[in-house]
Amino acid sequence: MYSRLLAILSLGVLATALSSDPCTVAHSADSDDSPAVYAAVSSCPSGQPIVFAPNTTYNIYTPLVFNNSDLTLSIQGNLSLPENITQVQAGVNASASGFWFYFTGSRVNVTGSTDPYNGWIESHGQQWWDVSNQVARPHLWGFAVNDGYMYNLKFLQPIAWTVSLSGANNVYAGNTLIDARSTGGFPFNTDGFDATGSNLLIEDSVIYNGDDAFAVGQNSVGSTNITFRRAFVGFQSHGCSIGSLGKDPTKPANVSDILVEDVFLENTLYGARFKSWMGGTGFAKNVTYRNIGVRNVTFPLYLTQSYVDQNSPGAPRVNNASVIMQNFTYENFFGDINTFHPGDGSCVTDPCWYYEPGADGTQAAILRCNAGACQDFTLKNINLRPQSGVPATILCNNLPIDSPDLGIVCQNGTFVET
Ligand SMILES: *[C@@H]1O[C@H](CO)[C@@H](O)[C@H](O)[C@H]1NC(C)=O
Ligand SMILES: *[C@@H]1O[C@H](CO)[C@@H](O)[C@H](O)[C@H]1NC(C)=O
Ligand SMILES: *[C@@H]1O[C@H](CO)[C@@H](O)[C@H](O)[C@H]1NC(C)=O
Ligand SMILES: *[C@@H]1O[C@H](CO)[C@@H](O)[C@H](O)[C@H]1NC(C)=O
Ligand SMILES: *[C@@H]1O[C@H](CO)[C@@H](O)[C@H](O)[C@H]1NC(C)=O
Ligand SMILES: *[C@@H]1O[C@H](CO)[C@@H](O)[C@H](O)[C@H]1NC(C)=O
Ligand SMILES: *[C@@H]1O[C@H](CO)[C@@H](O)[C@H](O)[C@H]1NC(C)=O
Ligand SMILES: *[C@@H]1O[C@H](CO)[C@@H](O)[C@H](O)[C@H]1NC(C)=O
Ligand SMILES: *[C@@H]1O[C@H](CO)[C@@H](O)[C@H](O)[C@H]1NC(C)=O
Ligand SMILES: *[C@@H]1O[C@H](CO)[C@@H](O)[C@H](O)[C@H]1NC(C)=O
Ligand SMILES: *[C@@H]1O[C@H](CO)[C@@H](O)[C@H](O)[C@H]1NC(C)=O
Ligand SMILES: *[C@@H]1O[C@H](CO)[C@@H](O)[C@H](O)[C@H]1NC(C)=O
Repeated sequence: MYSRLLAILSLGVLATALSSDPCTVAHSADSDDSPAVYAAVSSCPSGQPIVFAPNTTYNIYTPLVFNNSDLTLSIQGNLSLPENITQVQAGVNASASGFWFYFTGSRVNVTGSTDPYNGWIESHGQQWWDVSNQVARPHLWGFAVNDGYMYNLKFLQPIAWTVSLSGANNVYAGNTLIDARSTGGFPFNTDGFDATGSNLLIEDSVIYNGDDAFAVGQNSVGSTNITFRRAFVGFQSHGCSIGSLGKDPTKPANVSDILVEDVFLENTLYGARFKSWMGGTGFAKNVTYRNIGVRNVTFPLYLTQSYVDQNSPGAPRVNNASVIMQNFTYENFFGDINTFHPGDGSCVTDPCWYYEPGADGTQAAILRCNAGACQDFTLKNINLRPQSGVPATILCNNLPIDSPDLGIVCQNGTFVET
């Protein structure tokens, strides 16, 4: 402890000696720059931006944890995690949060660079994906702040989960690029935004990934007022999700006021997805998906309220309970359904985790409501066509109730709008 403190102090002195500006993070070749980041945060006058200099690749060899209010970071250079897998795992194992970058506190502002050759947060995920290494993977960027701002950030090959807004309140995330395209093995769990917080606005994103691009889960205080809009989502993404909710029947879900709009998805497995556990409790209400374009998407509009993971079923399931879905609107969907090569590269079990009885690549919608548990639903202007040219179909388990403007026929067969 004492020697670590000394090391940090002496590096801090070094950083000050090397850089005339206390707010510019010093960089040393081949060694860990994380201590210099802390040094800049402590020596830079409060309120001034801490700058990562352009044309510099910072070695972020150990995880960074910030619990500072009124913190502004300006990422004008590149930030690189270790290329050495063992070194990353050691950092994850030693970290309390599991995040490589973790922010708490209030009024935190992190902006990136508009220069295409600068401002990248590089995680070197390819080598992990190629050998399917899932041991001690980092969560990349935890932004659990109150009053936060993220703008122009670029994440290249995140090893797994990219941005977490879990527990965040009043956060804006604009112009984010998440590029988890793999040239080899499937990039498992490369979630884009985990948005289990409140008062969140995420807009103008480009996300290529191998899990949910956007996902709202449940936490103890409720996830509410969350907007995800104006995005392109591609590669083998799992789309824009709510859930899974209700895994622990003793913890009611509480999700409300969610808007997903103006999103285009290409080659993805899901478009709009909802998933809750059999026997779950609580509710998800006032959720709107609108203006959703798809190209070559397997399940453009999908919901299930009876999910159960056979491998980890959790607490005992009460079969007649359900997370209640209330006031769901799906409006203005267009594009084509992946008929010829349904699914994606994430299928490693038999049956596949996304296997759907009855699905044949022509379903515009799969609505697996439990009896009475989908309330006040509206589907309007759903223009989705199978690539094979046959009429679109639907799988519908139970009629959503209290739905004066349901807009479709709940049947297993042709997709009919009313
Ligand atoms: C970064 O390097 C490039 C290429 O050498 C150069 O054109 C550019 O001016 C540099 N940018 C800054 C901010 O120093
Ligand atoms: C920053 O990273 C990007 C993406 O890897 C790369 O294209 C660029 O050359 C890097 N910039 C510098 C200055 O090394
Ligand atoms: C952050 O600092 C505040 C004030 O010092 C403290 O109350 C809070 O517990 C800290 N949070 C974390 C996650 O360390
Ligand atoms: C990675 O780091 C570990 C532990 O520091 C070391 O033993 C190993 O040689 C390194 N691997 C490479 C390829 O540098
Ligand atoms: C990290 O922890 C995992 C267990 O979660 C262990 O298998 C691995 O060897 C550890 N690696 C390092 C470098 O500490
Ligand atoms: C965030 O910081 C940048 C400077 O790095 C500044 O231009 C911008 O206005 C700040 N945004 C907010 C919301 O404070
Ligand atoms: C919802 O969240 C947005 C984005 O943070 C915020 O601007 C707005 O005031 C919030 N609305 C309510 C009713 O709190
Ligand atoms: C649900 O979440 C809302 C908004 O965060 C909160 O006001 C409310 O108390 C929560 N209700 C329950 C039953 O947890
Ligand atoms: C439903 O959610 C939207 C945001 O998605 C919000 O603007 C609206 O006020 C909410 N409606 C009610 C009745 O709370
Ligand atoms: C459709 O998506 C699937 C799965 O990502 C892919 O295998 C297939 O090549 C894509 N087809 C077209 C025409 O892009
Ligand atoms: C239902 O959702 C629509 C669209 O977001 C909204 O206008 C309406 O106020 C909501 N009603 C309730 C009861 O939440
Ligand atoms: C559609 O098929 C499922 C599964 O076989 C069945 O449970 C459901 O009741 C059927 N829906 C209708 C409306 O018949």
